[in-house]
Amino acid sequence: MGGEGRVVLVSNRTPAVFTPSSVEERRNLPVGGLVSCLRPFLETQGGMWMGWDGNSDGYVDPVPTTVADVEGISLASVSLSRDEVEGFYNVFANRTLWPIFHSFPDKATFSHDSYRVYRSVNRRYAAALMALLRPGDLVWVHDFHLFPLGLELRKLGWTGKIGFFLHIPFPPSEIFGIMPWARELLASLFDYDLIGLQTPKYLHELKESLGHELGAEIDGDTARHRDRTVKVGSFPVGADAQAFQEMALSQVPSRVSRFLEELPNDRQLLLGVDRLDYTKGIVQRMQAIEQLLDDHPELRGHVTLVQISAPSRVTIPEYARERERLDSLVGRINGKFGEVHWLPIHTLHRPYSQQDLAQLYREADACLVTPLRDGMNLVAKEFVASQTSDPGVLVLSRFCGAAESMDDALMVNPYDFQETASAIYRALTMPRPERQRRWKALFEDVSGHTAHDWCYSFLSALDDA
Ligand code: G6P
Repeated sequence: MGGEGRVVLVSNRTPAVFTPSSVEERRNLPVGGLVSCLRPFLETQGGMWMGWDGNSDGYVDPVPTTVADVEGISLASVSLSRDEVEGFYNVFANRTLWPIFHSFPDKATFSHDSYRVYRSVNRRYAAALMALLRPGDLVWVHDFHLFPLGLELRKLGWTGKIGFFLHIPFPPSEIFGIMPWARELLASLFDYDLIGLQTPKYLHELKESLGHELGAEIDGDTARHRDRTVKVGSFPVGADAQAFQEMALSQVPSRVSRFLEELPNDRQLLLGVDRLDYTKGIVQRMQAIEQLLDDHPELRGHVTLVQISAPSRVTIPEYARERERLDSLVGRINGKFGEVHWLPIHTLHRPYSQQDLAQLYREADACLVTPLRDGMNLVAKEFVASQTSDPGVLVLSRFCGAAESMDDALMVNPYDFQETASAIYRALTMPRPERQRRWKALFEDVSGHTAHDWCYSFLSALDDA
């Protein structure tokens, strides 16, 4: 792949998760979706990964420092000033692009100043990357933080292949078009050789926007604008299924072992695992739990939801408000139903490692993956990969990318908490043969479309583009 060149990944953040040198240590660190789908590929293939070091202490080095060289992987980090973190990351990426792409226009902020910072940070990423690239390298840019990176690299003279993958949904064109910079962002996509989306639906939405906003011509998997063309395709992200299977089976003591050992025999376990983000539908999930316990008093004392809500983007007001909403709702529900020996909901506001999660997934009677909107959602796939002979049930929102290939989950509309409550009840009472049949079908999909497969299919399409 890529002839003699390396695969060079660029994403907003440096995956600090590579710094410990053993696989064991790395698995004990918490990771997000983007890192967990790219890491297994880089661990076997080697290459370079560049991103922001996550600090905002003010010192800005125009040339990135290679911070680590671990088992054939070079990590290069870019530093950002406080103003850059504010304009680029907090405002334009997380308060403009994120809500618009997830179809929450009411939560979006529009500021020309922050757009200017977004563009200038992309220029700095490009300059930093140019200094490190070698002829023949295959550059793969990830996610909404870096739409104009391809354009900036071309301006600096890079003629090699560049691919772009969007991890989040692509919104309907009438929502995308709300952004004053919609056309400029779309035009910048023509500096890539290949654009990847998570699902055929998002690919369709991208083509619609290209047509409406730019008047681009679409011919199958090729978009043409003036004299330039770009290939577009859907490449659904997969999970590192084998790793989760191994971790679920391993008896390594983890942070959750004691809790699982002490769980009474007559207690069923529900699990939710998310970043604390308003797109994840965590508040609506709690309303469904309240409904479930109202409808089925016999479940009181016999079912516990463990909700892991890793803090995310905590300085952003929409995220702080979501946390307050969640905490007050959980407090009310626990107060309403709880007993001294039992609380219906445990919310844990901290990230857990893959090893911890695999053990929780294994033991859970049902996993509640009910986002209001989500590009893919790897929790759904990791849960399925971690099941054994007495599998739990996946309750899945129909509004995430994973729903397109996981028909054997119990599908719900997360805005309808009565429907979600009924699905949870069905999951908790489902006979074992049905659980096994559903799980087998889901497992076939998850183990047949892994994170590795995803990387290879995108990179070989980029090679051919
Ligand atoms: C989503 C995005 C990723 C991002 C992750 C964590 O999955 O698609 O690009 O890295 O959230 O968000 P954060 O803002 O903490 O990097």
